[in-house]
Amino acid sequence: MEMAQHFVLACQIMTTVIDMVPKAKRCQNGDDLFMEIKRYSWITTSRNTDDVCPIFRRTFSAGKTVLSASLTITALGVYRAVLNGSPVGDFVLAPGWTSYDNRLQVQVYDVTSLLTDENELCVTIGRGWFRSPLPGWINSKDKQRRVAQPCGLIACLKIQYEDGTAETLSTDTDWTWAESPVRFSEIYDGERVDARVIPDDWQSAAILDWSRDILIPQEGETIRETECIAPKEIIRTPAGETVIDFGQEVTGYMAFSVTAKAGDRISFDHGEVLDSFGCFYNENYRSARSMVEYICRDGQQTWHPQLTFFGFRYVRLLSWPGEARPENFTAIVVHSDMQRTGWLASGNTELNQLFSNIVWGQRGNFLDVPTDCPQRDERLGWTGDAQVFVRTASYLYDVERFFRKWLHDLAADQRNTGEVGQVIPDVMPTAECSAAWGDAATICPWQIYQTYGSLKVLEDQFDSMRRWVDFISSVTKTPGLWTEHFHFGDWLGLDAKPGSYKGSSREDLIATAFYAYSTDLVVKTGRLLGMDVSAYAALHDEIVTAFRRTFPSLVTQTEHVVAIQFGLTPDPQKTADDLAALIRSDGIQLKTGFVGTPYILHVLSRYGYAGLAWDLVLRREYPGWLYPVTKGATTIWEHWDGIREDGSFWSADMNSFNHYSYGAVADWIFEQAAGIQHDESHPGFSELIYAPHPDIRLGWLSADLLTRHGKIRTKWTCQGDHIRYELSTPVPALVCLNGETRRVEKGDYVFFTSLNH
Ligand code: BGC
Repeated sequence: MEMAQHFVLACQIMTTVIDMVPKAKRCQNGDDLFMEIKRYSWITTSRNTDDVCPIFRRTFSAGKTVLSASLTITALGVYRAVLNGSPVGDFVLAPGWTSYDNRLQVQVYDVTSLLTDENELCVTIGRGWFRSPLPGWINSKDKQRRVAQPCGLIACLKIQYEDGTAETLSTDTDWTWAESPVRFSEIYDGERVDARVIPDDWQSAAILDWSRDILIPQEGETIRETECIAPKEIIRTPAGETVIDFGQEVTGYMAFSVTAKAGDRISFDHGEVLDSFGCFYNENYRSARSMVEYICRDGQQTWHPQLTFFGFRYVRLLSWPGEARPENFTAIVVHSDMQRTGWLASGNTELNQLFSNIVWGQRGNFLDVPTDCPQRDERLGWTGDAQVFVRTASYLYDVERFFRKWLHDLAADQRNTGEVGQVIPDVMPTAECSAAWGDAATICPWQIYQTYGSLKVLEDQFDSMRRWVDFISSVTKTPGLWTEHFHFGDWLGLDAKPGSYKGSSREDLIATAFYAYSTDLVVKTGRLLGMDVSAYAALHDEIVTAFRRTFPSLVTQTEHVVAIQFGLTPDPQKTADDLAALIRSDGIQLKTGFVGTPYILHVLSRYGYAGLAWDLVLRREYPGWLYPVTKGATTIWEHWDGIREDGSFWSADMNSFNHYSYGAVADWIFEQAAGIQHDESHPGFSELIYAPHPDIRLGWLSADLLTRHGKIRTKWTCQGDHIRYELSTPVPALVCLNGETRRVEKGDYVFFTSLNH
């Protein structure tokens, strides 16, 4: 079969009957096969193809009856492999994103069902993250180096025949390459395809001298297409634009079907919101063009971008042959395919929308790496955002595998000094680290251990955790205090001075508080692993003493919050009382940013202010979690007022509508509102503390959490003058209601308390 037909066939099948393609499965004995690939060669193109994505090809006969066949493969760039016209596997954007200088994941697919007598294996390679100009707003030598890297492919196809013989085809100069129909593809700017192009000028591949020591078996979750969404409507905007509204902000790409003439042009770009006039808007994508261009061939065709992704709810059709109808378009949702483990529902519709927005925030930003946002010229693994959200993330989805992989990258990219970069993979290797960002090194492993109960993550990360604390100690000017260093502070704090993104909480105070917390986590981890951590325990005491001496009074909401949360205040109840008074004098509204917001509700409800915490959660006016919901949000916004009351936007410079950080409120809903808590001595929910904080304004709240020990189900309902609690626990539980505690064994229970309590 000619290559052009293969391309068309694969595309059509992929987008129209996504689940019916005979997809190759990941192979069982992948680790053995992985070891073998290290023996083979990298190949590349024999000349520079600039923007055009090359396609590599190997044809071969399998004249005997095949028992089994597997393809072991990875690339420098993102690859899409097609065997005899069918996509190999369902891994989108393979091989994912790692610290490429140190680690590159290898995939193994069972391709037995795809083989025929005469075979053609084709692999198209796009720039992906490997050669992308990440991040968009910086120009540096390191970035130029990465963009100039060659594309590369390493693969090995192993065929076992029924007669006992075997055959291995690996990447070498018997492979050929040509220019593919993909004329351009890149993470920020999108994809350009000319479907008329028939790869024909096949030339021998060249051997590429590139490290094979970086190759590792697949560690993270597979990135997959997980849902298809039909357009809600096609809008004609006041500016005369044709805009498709999918009704939900997603990460992925749009597929389209069209009957066209060769040379007809289709082009579109992506946006998250409409402006106050109802017109298309995407200035907030900054330099990321997020554009798709497709030149049609003759006839009916179905296509979607294959080597990049976008964050979007709206698509503006810039060029389309004929009339655009809803049935022509589908949004395809793409993310790391994690198992859902947490569910929340309540009697408050807006709160339910908030829960949905948080889940979509995670789906939109867990694309192999926990990213800040999926649309503008960032899409980076910001460490601060990851540590803020990890707890919520670990309840909503099973992210053990996802975080263990990312934390390995964090350790791999940790600098010689022990410093942890602002983003992981560290594409800004000269940018200074910051407190609450670098602390992802300690906070994320600890949370993964707490949620899932396996020590493996701590064993893997202990050295990295310790090195981060040692780094801070090495730059302190006064023992026990982290001062005089760059920090992001309480990023986006609402008490920021005009023109600043940093809240007014003292940066040295925040930095020292996180220094204490990270040191404490090193002590706890070390003890669990049987290490001598007495020096870190002494250091922790020293930091606490220095903190109390240096910051005898606390000023902002965030300062109070971290002092309580990290055990730094000598009298936490008094500090919580002061915090509650401060919040009231601030008009019962948040003034916190990235640092204070994830913890503020926890410290309030822990010290007797659950009602005030609920006031903050249920606030419908800016600033509050429900305000974006009242403005139609379908994901979590970077700013509480990304869209203001008058319909105007926050500055386009920094205004993402899919930024999961403030979605961290969900861990408070699970733990304090619904009452599903564990204590540190029983990680992984091997025992449960059930201590809910109901609020009549909701009527009812249910939370289900699938743990390693089974599913915990809870629901409280306000009924007349009492509250009914339903608890189904797979493990022994300590039930704390009405100020009384009692132990119960695993089982299903109903309790009642008086509403007035
Ligand atoms: C990102 C944030 C990130 C921050 C660092 C921003 O541009 O989008 O989420 O944490 O920079 O302060």
